[in-house]
Amino acid sequence: ALERTLSIIKPDAVAKNVIGEIYTRFEKAGLKVAASKMKQLSKQEAEGFYAVHRERPFFSALVEFMISGPVMIQVLEGEGAVLKNRDLMGATNPKDAAPGTIRADFADSIDANAVHGSDSLENAAIEVAYFFPATDVFAR
Ligand code: CMP
Repeated sequence: ALERTLSIIKPDAVAKNVIGEIYTRFEKAGLKVAASKMKQLSKQEAEGFYAVHRERPFFSALVEFMISGPVMIQVLEGEGAVLKNRDLMGATNPKDAAPGTIRADFADSIDANAVHGSDSLENAAIEVAYFFPATDVFAR
């Protein structure tokens, strides 16, 4: 089915100047950019976005990392977009990520792991709405 998912290019990958290379992977896989913005997240925004992880031991490090520089936030639209994006990203820990995935090629650690992608269709809708009003997301 046609789906939308939320993708974030994290501060490490923005600093590496690989936004375009990552967008090319989305496009070559048939995902279309339906919304996009660069943003410096506030601590409150990052904490709210990752609220499901707030009891995890890595939560404060995750938030500090996500506010350490600008991020590129996009909505990706396409057939099976949620799983397709997760396949392109590879495993959360780049040490476990399959060759040719975004994290295998651009991530340095489980914290600085280049990209975020929604893990389910349900969370995708929540995450898209967290960053984009409906009028700023375009059917492609
Ligand atoms: P992300 O998909 O953005 O969702 C939560 C992030 O927490 C995850 O990517 C990782 O960058 C980070 N993280 C750090 N340690 C862990 C861990 N042990 N398990 C899962 N995620 C972790």
